[in-house]
Amino acid sequence: MPYVVLGVSGSIAAYRAGDLARELMRRGFTVRVCLTDGAQRFVSPALFEGLTGQPCLVDTFEEPERGRMAHIDWARQAAALVVAPATGSTLAKLAHGIADDMLTTIALAYSGPLVVAPAMNPTMYGSEPVRAAVEILRARAAAFVEPDAGEVACGEQGEGKFAGVERIAEAVQAVAIRARLLEGQRVLITSGPTREPIDAARFLSNRSSGKMGAALARAALLLGAEVTVVSGPASAPLPIECTVIRVQTAREMLEASLEALRQSHLVIGAAAVADYRPEAAVDGKIRRVDEPIDLRLVPNPDVIATLAEKAGGSARVVGFAAEPSGDLDVVREKLRRKGLHAVASNDISLPVIGFESNNNALTLVFADGRVEESGVRSKLECALWLLESLSEPV
Ligand code: C5P
Repeated sequence: MPYVVLGVSGSIAAYRAGDLARELMRRGFTVRVCLTDGAQRFVSPALFEGLTGQPCLVDTFEEPERGRMAHIDWARQAAALVVAPATGSTLAKLAHGIADDMLTTIALAYSGPLVVAPAMNPTMYGSEPVRAAVEILRARAAAFVEPDAGEVACGEQGEGKFAGVERIAEAVQAVAIRARLLEGQRVLITSGPTREPIDAARFLSNRSSGKMGAALARAALLLGAEVTVVSGPASAPLPIECTVIRVQTAREMLEASLEALRQSHLVIGAAAVADYRPEAAVDGKIRRVDEPIDLRLVPNPDVIATLAEKAGGSARVVGFAAEPSGDLDVVREKLRRKGLHAVASNDISLPVIGFESNNNALTLVFADGRVEESGVRSKLECALWLLESLSEPV
């Protein structure tokens, strides 16, 4: 039975978390409940222990199994973390990584799917800090079960009523199913820029931050895949759960990717590979002279096209195309020339997306002619959308 951790925070709606726990159990989950101090004003651990047959945690240092750190065990074993009801304070703590009680400590140790069902006074729910926290958590692909509108406990009218138990349980079931979408699949991602040395101190490179590759890695992990990332020198942090092979040049990226290709089911080329490299890197440093100098560039191997050729149908190979216009004919030509299963194109002339941005908007063009649009979303949401679109049966 998959575990879910149900985190209950201090809203009056905490009294309904018992029903939610039962509903999740009916749907096949083993439910482990964690209460904040605020929640304890409304409900007690004894209630949840009785309902679930599992220990209910409150204190950060509680250890139901002696010598085992519960916050780590619970975080590792959970198929989903459900925070319901989520107060404004708990939302803000989740958004900013403040771990000052057991629930938020588990949340910080946890990297799987998160479901959040807020419940609070409508003015609090509409407040700037809560809106900002919701936006941060959405960008991290948290599934929000929106509160209902109506009269809340304090008598005010507006949005903030705890969503129905059924609706929350359905959302939990949906994310738990989604978390197994790529189970047993090995995904290889190329990411970041490459650096092509000119001399000992200088190189040719580009503006790729590696954020899209990192988002793809996180998304593939969230969908249950095993992930290898071959990454050029990029600043975006990669999830610790994936295997990372660091490279500098396009030729190193090709070599490392060919090695990883053998075990891969899906390959995604998100790297911004330099198309050209200096013919020969100069030993030492090129000294300044007061006249033009020539830098002769030779073409680099096309990493993704080579991977598609070598995969020969054993893996689906998908490319990216950073295009300065929305011209899909250019994308289709690229797809054919490189022998890819699909190409995810983004229009880099749009200021709100691309390169260092946290957002993107993808047009996914398939070899069979289908075209799908993600709309503007965070890079992580785009990555999840992309992987889900790729795994849909035609
Ligand atoms: O032709 P263009 O560079 O726009 O193609 C983009 C796609 O090809 C991306 O998936 C990129 O990772 C890949 N690519 C590559 N090796 C190159 C150039 C591009 O893998 N030398």
